Amino acid sequence: MCGIVGYVGKRTAQNVLLNGLKRLEYRGYDSAGIATLDDTDKPHIARSVGKIAELENVLLVKPHKGHLGIGHTRWATHGGVTVSNAHPHHVGDVYLVHNGIIENYKELKEQLSEYEFQSDTDTEVLAALIDSNYKNGISLKDAVAKALKKVRGTYGIAAFSPNEPGTIIVARLGSPLIIGLGQDETIIASDASALLGYTREAIYLNDGEIAVCTEKGAEVFNLNLKHLSPNPETIEGDVEQIQKGGYDHFLLKEIMEQATTLHNTLSGRIDPEQGKMHLGGPNLTAKEMRDINHIVIVGCGTAYYAGLLASYYMEQLIPDLTTEVVVASEYRYRSFHLPQNSVALIVSQSGETADTLACLREIKKRGVKTLGIVNVIGSTIAREVDGGTYVHAGPEISVASTKAFTAQVVTMVMFAGMLAEYHGGNVELIAKITKELSILPKEIEKTLKDHREDVKNLAKKYCKYNDALYLGRDTAYPIALEGALKLKEISYIHAEGYASGELKHGPIALVDETFFEVFNILDNWLFDKSIGGLHEVRARGGKAIVFTNSKAEIEADDIIRINSKIKILTPLLLNTLQQLFAYYVAVNRGNDVDQPRNLAKSVTVE
Ligand code: F6R
Repeated sequence: MCGIVGYVGKRTAQNVLLNGLKRLEYRGYDSAGIATLDDTDKPHIARSVGKIAELENVLLVKPHKGHLGIGHTRWATHGGVTVSNAHPHHVGDVYLVHNGIIENYKELKEQLSEYEFQSDTDTEVLAALIDSNYKNGISLKDAVAKALKKVRGTYGIAAFSPNEPGTIIVARLGSPLIIGLGQDETIIASDASALLGYTREAIYLNDGEIAVCTEKGAEVFNLNLKHLSPNPETIEGDVEQIQKGGYDHFLLKEIMEQATTLHNTLSGRIDPEQGKMHLGGPNLTAKEMRDINHIVIVGCGTAYYAGLLASYYMEQLIPDLTTEVVVASEYRYRSFHLPQNSVALIVSQSGETADTLACLREIKKRGVKTLGIVNVIGSTIAREVDGGTYVHAGPEISVASTKAFTAQVVTMVMFAGMLAEYHGGNVELIAKITKELSILPKEIEKTLKDHREDVKNLAKKYCKYNDALYLGRDTAYPIALEGALKLKEISYIHAEGYASGELKHGPIALVDETFFEVFNILDNWLFDKSIGGLHEVRARGGKAIVFTNSKAEIEADDIIRINSKIKILTPLLLNTLQQLFAYYVAVNRGNDVDQPRNLAKSVTVE
């Protein structure tokens, strides 16, 4: 989704803005622009449709030399992908970039009839609203605060005016904004990755706050202009983590580095000798842990599937617990009821997904404790939950989620293992899973290494197909769903995930020689039943690929057999191969794997 960068200091603003915008490219966008003030306080704007490289071309012809500016990557919501709809917008004396949606922009536009609008955007209306308040000697900060009080919707904004050189005003409501505090420079961004390498000290703006940024730092206020004193926080991560590190794509890097990131997820949280798991973040007393009788897991897309897989393990580990896993975009609008002593796990890589955040707020309204299973540190969900645990997967740049899935599942399994201790859970199983977790990073590394070439060849063979079915039973079912999602989003092949047992209830009607099927078959008590589905598909001419840890004879068109000490957590190993398969299929089809069409990394609007 949209990204914001701002700079005031001694460096050439254009360079910092372009560098920052490139770091935000992964979020998905369709146009970009910057506005700067030169040293004679003259404003300049450059905007272009397409990639940042297009904007760079514009700036190559006419470089901006000033030391203050704002920049934006736009993911179109109101109005098409055109230069005039790209940000920054300029109305009167106000230059503005905006993330989010102004819901009452039509109403406001009618009230601002003295303005001639150049774009179809809600942002230009907001710029006009600010400009209309920016009269009679009031400051830009006061004008912005006045305007924002009239706005319904969400925003993260950065604005400047040539009348107040050296100052950028920022504000947020429901859309992140971080102010990086450097030595004689201040860098603003909607995502901490744009600040890496400039400073580690930052103020995370809260909803309803506005800040005046100069090269000397930032002063923060609420919308009633009461002065606030936020404590600066430390930004985690380094520049290396947001670079490709020798891989062709971020996606491949993120798949291949899962052993390392998982090590971080597990660090200090498991004791394989004692057979115990422990997470510090949930902030629940022993009594609260004992009292939990129901867990609802909330997420979207891959995060939802991670929750679904984790729920299978939770049920095995904690016999007296009920679980439900819900899609956030639906749950937020349902008249749901939760039993007393429920706990909600809010799963989100970005920590900014609008539907997941809305669910969190709905659940809190019902007095239920919320725990975050979040990757991005300092994100909105991480800040609003009652407690929780970071999954520590490191920055996930590629739009398709891979390493975060593995880290989310593992973190929820650790939560379940810890909770099981308070519920007289199956001690033997807790110990077994703890042991498996301790070797999981190495086993993931080995699986990817052993089968990378095989998977690459498989992808070459199947990349021309247009339809695929992914099937699995029990804990292989959520990864069938996840495998299909991964394939469709980056390869654009139509792919559906089903529980193998559902085949006969409809999807088998689709199967013919134009389809390929991916079967995830576990070496467990459901093996024979899983094989049944495979036979049914092959009898109808469908091509069958099998990912399995079984050594038994299986008739399929292609089989990838993993050989691992892991048993219970095998779905996580199979899933890494599915990720690799989707990646190579997409590469073979010549797609932009890191920024697939129409998708955004962090879905901050409904
Ligand atoms: C799929 C994918 C999406 C996200 C979903 C939730 O590869 O990336 O389905 O998983 O948009 O995002 P987060 O986890 O940031 O809440």
